[in-house]
Amino acid sequence: MALPALGLDPWSLLGLFLFQLLLLLLPPSPAWAGGQGPVPRLRYYAGDGRRALSLFHQKGLQDFDTLLLSGDEDTLYVGVREAILALDIQDPGVPRLKKMIPWPASDKKKKDCALKRKSNETQCFNFIRVLVSLNATHLYACGTYAFSPTCVFIELRDSDLLPISQDKVVEGKGQSPFDPAHKHTAVLVDGTLYSGTMNNFLGSEPILMRTLGSQPVLKTDNFLRWLQPDASFVAAFPSTQVVYFFFEETASEFEFFYKLHTSRVARVCKNDMGGDKVLQKKWTTFLKAQLLCAEPGQLPFNIIRHAVLLPANFSTDPYVYAVFSSQWQIGGTSSSAVCAFSLKDIEHVFEGKYKGLDKETSRWTTAGAPDGISPRPGSCSVGPSSDKALTFMKDHFLMDGQVVAKPLLVKSGVEYTRLAVETAQGLDGHTYLVMYLGTTTGYLHKAVVSGDGRAHLVEEIQLFPDPEPVRNLQLAPAQGALFAGFSGGVLRIPRANCSVYKSCMDCILARDPHCAWDPESQMCRLLPTPVPKFWGQDMEQGNPEWLCASGPMGRSLRSKSRPQIIKEVLAAPNSILELPCPHLSDLASYRWSWGTATDLGASSVVYNGSLLLVLHDGAGGLYQCWATENGFSYPVVSYWVGLQDQPPALDPELAGIPRERVETPLTKVRGGATLAAQRSYWPHFLTVTVLLTLVLSGALIFLLSSPLGALRARGKVQGCGTLPPGEKAPLSREHLQPPKECRTSASDMDANNCLGTEMV
Ligand SMILES: *[C@@H]1O[C@H](CO)[C@@H](O)[C@H](O)[C@H]1NC(C)=O
Ligand SMILES: *[C@@H]1O[C@H](CO)[C@@H](O)[C@H](O)[C@H]1NC(C)=O
Ligand SMILES: *[C@@H]1O[C@H](CO)[C@@H](O)[C@H](O)[C@H]1NC(C)=O
Ligand SMILES: *[C@@H]1O[C@H](CO)[C@@H](O)[C@H](O)[C@H]1NC(C)=O
Ligand SMILES: *[C@@H]1O[C@H](CO)[C@@H](O)[C@H](O)[C@H]1NC(C)=O
Repeated sequence: MALPALGLDPWSLLGLFLFQLLLLLLPPSPAWAGGQGPVPRLRYYAGDGRRALSLFHQKGLQDFDTLLLSGDEDTLYVGVREAILALDIQDPGVPRLKKMIPWPASDKKKKDCALKRKSNETQCFNFIRVLVSLNATHLYACGTYAFSPTCVFIELRDSDLLPISQDKVVEGKGQSPFDPAHKHTAVLVDGTLYSGTMNNFLGSEPILMRTLGSQPVLKTDNFLRWLQPDASFVAAFPSTQVVYFFFEETASEFEFFYKLHTSRVARVCKNDMGGDKVLQKKWTTFLKAQLLCAEPGQLPFNIIRHAVLLPANFSTDPYVYAVFSSQWQIGGTSSSAVCAFSLKDIEHVFEGKYKGLDKETSRWTTAGAPDGISPRPGSCSVGPSSDKALTFMKDHFLMDGQVVAKPLLVKSGVEYTRLAVETAQGLDGHTYLVMYLGTTTGYLHKAVVSGDGRAHLVEEIQLFPDPEPVRNLQLAPAQGALFAGFSGGVLRIPRANCSVYKSCMDCILARDPHCAWDPESQMCRLLPTPVPKFWGQDMEQGNPEWLCASGPMGRSLRSKSRPQIIKEVLAAPNSILELPCPHLSDLASYRWSWGTATDLGASSVVYNGSLLLVLHDGAGGLYQCWATENGFSYPVVSYWVGLQDQPPALDPELAGIPRERVETPLTKVRGGATLAAQRSYWPHFLTVTVLLTLVLSGALIFLLSSPLGALRARGKVQGCGTLPPGEKAPLSREHLQPPKECRTSASDMDANNCLGTEMV
């Protein structure tokens, strides 16, 4: 069975040893290093035909930052640098440009902008920041307009954009930021625009403002410091009586030795009319509270990056889903979390106690609603509030309670920039939450939350080859697609491609609520509504055991894992065959079997998942690659291997399974001529492998020893490798965060060391 005649055992041992050495020397792949959090079951690289994305782009157009879906979902309006587009998205495939209206910043503004030392190459343009549907006939758009925020009413005719007329242009301060790098948010509620952004050129004066509509214009009070100078808005949503804003700022209420970021929700009442004597033209109902997204006993994810509202449904309350990152790089890598906050919890905190700043001691104290003031300060009561209540509001704008949530998903090694959420009905009748998460490096994760409140990642799609952030995500549910904006264009991403799951096992194990196995057509298909009851899906367990059992049951022990097709490989004696095993899932582990044996013998090696086999006498038979996932094993691929002139008789167990002849690509070296047929290629093969391994390990040792050593040395000089002897590690600002040089100049490994020593 084995190859004693070749007598190569010492060599194979050496080869194996070197191979192991090589594995040890290789730096851990990101998947291992950032081991925390769910692993995407499938990964698609940019351009993978299995997950075809349709890209709209055009020469001269860039920064596809702002997306707005028309009410009928037939048109996607896009704010790009210095223009607004209307894209027809009715047909699957690449969005079609219906109309483009240019809206460049004027030459004068561009000149002024450049004079103020802003870049005429990257900053002094009109970046569209706000794009909302005002009424049936008008859109409203705002842009940075070369650091001079400007807005415009754009007329629509049959969802076609009419050119911008100068008499429809208005000043946009407080609605769009000055600087394209600054965050902002805006939401239109009953013809009124609520916006949160930076209100000055320097970017030091945040504002939360109400404009348009018939109500008075209201602003936050800058002097009273309701918002910290670095407040950075990410989202806003209306509720019945109030509008909520989500943002991040420096926490002023904690006395801490270094700048501590915190995430906030603020709210204002829609019916706020501003104060009369006190708080004139200012909000009289502005309140804010801390949002806390943390695993118990861990550092919180304190920086909110984006949030979306999932409105109430028959059974569920409205929830806000938000992506967070952390100010602390735990273990040298950044990490992200998704938390869900119920609007009920948020409301509850706004009905609790307040915090107030004691002017004399500069300390924050807790305060209940003052006696004798009714209605409660900050509540959305109709009618004017008393001066006493407004005076209280001036410095009791922070709530004492926190809105707390435990993460649905924590993932290290990625930073999410954006998210979109929807619900999908599974075959079991339950509603599942589906989250699409865009990263800073251009990937999209499709995450599904099952009944136990935990998320799994169905897939990871690389949206574009160059790493850059996903700028925006917009779901178009009626189109069954998601649109993603980035610097170079807008992509249409179908919700799912169920046909990538080729077998019933794969379809069930995927646990994608959009896909189910149709036993009739023997295909994994998009789940239609109403759901066909006889299809197969198991969102909770992902257990294909019963769902995929077909044919005569109970006769053979392995009936459910019988291969669907057998690939027949016939070759000349002593050929070297490469039998590939497609890795369908990153959650599965793979192994090979030979007949009923799992021990493959000496005539074969597994390399990169494929089986390399020397076809000598007695090495033929059934070779199967098995995937084990979720406790379930099934053959991914099955080969029937034999000699050309004397194919072995097929195992009776396998009778009736369709067979397919596989030719050349599998046969690495074929012994055609008699002479060649008598030679064994095994020694050559091993020699080459060993030499290659030697060269590679040599190169690696060299690589690891020289530049990395140098980096280590440098790291130490900069004080990040180890602390000088005798110095204890104080818990101070410098030591909680690794010095910048550590993170940028040294490898992850060193940053790790660095943080490791200092956190002690
Ligand atoms: C879906 O996957 C199948 C097979 O993997 C592929 O042929 C097809 O083009 C894909 N379709 C899309 C829209 O990505
Ligand atoms: C920016 O200004 C520089 C110097 O004033 C000029 O040479 C360059 O052409 C300008 N670039 C653009 C894009 O206008
Ligand atoms: C929509 O808003 C624009 C701008 O405020 C206004 O001129 C127009 O009359 C409005 N149209 C409708 C149908 O209300
Ligand atoms: C409520 O959820 C169901 C199932 O997900 C969905 O079909 C329906 O459209 C939702 N209704 C609303 C009002 O969102
Ligand atoms: C490993 O296999 C995959 C797919 O089977 C292939 O794309 C990749 O190039 C292989 N890597 C090496 C080093 O052979």
